[in-house]
Amino acid sequence: MSTLNVPGIAYGGDYNPEQWPEEVWAEDVRLMREAGVTMVSVGIFSWALLEPSEGVYDFSLLDRILDLLHENGIAADLATPTAAPPAWFFRAHPEALPVDRDGRQLSYGSRQTFCPSSPAYREAALRIAGELAARYAEHPAVVMWHVHNEYGCHNAECYCDTSAEAFRGWLRARYENLDALNDAWGTTFWSQRYYDWDEIIPPRATGAVPNPAHQLDWRRFCSEELLSLYKAEREVLREAAPGTPATTNFMVMYAFDALDYWRWAPELDIVSNDHYLRSTDPESEIDIALSGDLVRSLAGGRPWLLMEHSTGAVNWQPVNRAKTAGELRRNALAHVAHGADGIAYFQWRAAKAGAEQWHSAMLPHAGTDSQIWRDVVALGADLKALAEVRGSTGTASVAVVWDWNARWALELPSQPSEQVRYLDLVRSWYEPLWRSGVAVDFVRPDADLSSYRLVLAPNLYLVDDEGAANLTRFAEGGGTLAVGFHSGAVDENCHVRLGGYPGAFRDVLGVRTDELFPLLPGESVSLSGGGTASLWSERVHLAGAETITSYTEGPLTGIPAVTRHGCGTGTAWYLATLPDPSTLAALLDRIRAEAGVAPVRVTPEGVEAVLRRGPEADYLFLINHGDGGAEVDVAPDATELLAGERVHGGRVTVAAGDVMVVREPRSATP
Ligand code: GAL
Repeated sequence: MSTLNVPGIAYGGDYNPEQWPEEVWAEDVRLMREAGVTMVSVGIFSWALLEPSEGVYDFSLLDRILDLLHENGIAADLATPTAAPPAWFFRAHPEALPVDRDGRQLSYGSRQTFCPSSPAYREAALRIAGELAARYAEHPAVVMWHVHNEYGCHNAECYCDTSAEAFRGWLRARYENLDALNDAWGTTFWSQRYYDWDEIIPPRATGAVPNPAHQLDWRRFCSEELLSLYKAEREVLREAAPGTPATTNFMVMYAFDALDYWRWAPELDIVSNDHYLRSTDPESEIDIALSGDLVRSLAGGRPWLLMEHSTGAVNWQPVNRAKTAGELRRNALAHVAHGADGIAYFQWRAAKAGAEQWHSAMLPHAGTDSQIWRDVVALGADLKALAEVRGSTGTASVAVVWDWNARWALELPSQPSEQVRYLDLVRSWYEPLWRSGVAVDFVRPDADLSSYRLVLAPNLYLVDDEGAANLTRFAEGGGTLAVGFHSGAVDENCHVRLGGYPGAFRDVLGVRTDELFPLLPGESVSLSGGGTASLWSERVHLAGAETITSYTEGPLTGIPAVTRHGCGTGTAWYLATLPDPSTLAALLDRIRAEAGVAPVRVTPEGVEAVLRRGPEADYLFLINHGDGGAEVDVAPDATELLAGERVHGGRVTVAAGDVMVVREPRSATP
């Protein structure tokens, strides 16, 4: 892991000067300085300009841009332009165009329209990366390599014959022989047994439901295939400039689930992420928090960079909502609160042409006489005031288990209910923790859990023996574990764990389910002790656990819905349904109180409290998402950094919509 050679909290965005006449550039850098911009990402989509025909290069434009940035004290996060191969490449290599599940070959004309397994693409990508690296390794503006852009955003899967061959190669390495593959995939079902490796193809559109293990391995392969492209580019860059850190921008939220970022993150020198709000989410601040906690966890607790978000509306949702007053500031500072040491936008200057002409930017179409510009300048000053926060990290005693393999498997077709969505479940458990100010890390099922008191697995449909044993050990060794329904159900090959559900967690939870009763959309059942449950139910039998709540209506009347099991020196809870939000919140409150987990700070409703801990001080971020001012207790000896004022009387008032960052003496609690 390296650090970024930019002072304080980096600030900037994607900068595409190639879209503008050169006279505009001088205004760009002048305004960047006015806004306090310290780093911009350049060259992301400039392949066609840099290499106008195969092997012919023209770096004159990039030379001038990098020099101009450097003269103005702005650092460059220099991108390899490999997310958008030029038209000449596809005319020379039409076989590198991707093929979708239905066998349709796509055309060039947008971006990221290439087959990840194409040897011609790999060769061309490494060539341009190598040229860039050689030319700019020593350029004083370049502080980081931005490898590609959002790997897999548009081409996570390609079903062409080249990809099929690569898939078979990956399967051979994984299984070594066909018997092992046939066993893992359960191919005796529907006459799917393979006798020759060449019989195996990607899970292309077929008449009925494809084999689950086949689909799951395909998802794994697709993630690995793109990862190998990233690593190959990174190696080329590293060789030329060993001291310059490399990153690539993740997309951990929204609907994107194509990459197993637990496998990607260790390959990045600095982890970075892109985050966009969904116009339909009335509480996108929770999405930001969840995303930030997940990215910080992927980064192993180290600071990360927010590589992209938006100042206002995006252009790719059915209706693209602008931000409300103060939202730009709250959003950016919330990312910092959750561990970002850099805040960047897509993009610097709003485009006037091209597919993203209706996307917001730091400098909008309206120019500097605009609310967005004023907010952007003010944010620059805020980030400057937070310079000392850099390098500090979160501190959590609650871990939420997050696993892409489990997510992929849960969302394969032909499940008991297609209404069960991984991210929805994680969010529904995360929300009450967020509301009560409890700090959360995300972990893999096999992570070291020794620093946590409470581990939550909202859903772990798929878990391997190692992961299940790790979570069991945690509970038996004195921890508190809470597991959500339809967990432990299958092993790493999607084979059902027999003998009753929730398979791998039956013993630790002290329950045994003999049949699943998913609920219909809109259906709910009442619970003893108040509240209702929806989405899912199952016929749970106690096998050591006690009942906390049971159903009071429907076919499962009297059957446990939530159970608690003392196991070893710890406790394991099973939530066999989805309680309504306030019932779930009360339950999680009880679970965490019993586990001895306290919130970061008790705050009035609507005020988010997040703590970053540095070597000498704690930084308490208070973000008021509500409509009224709110008082929060702070340490007697504290300073508010954004206003640069000492706090008197051990209490601050956070105005509606406002953010405060309070430096307190480092507390002794872990
Ligand atoms: C990202 C992408 C950017 C831009 C942005 C628009 O997915 O990396 O290049 O397209 O979306 O929101």
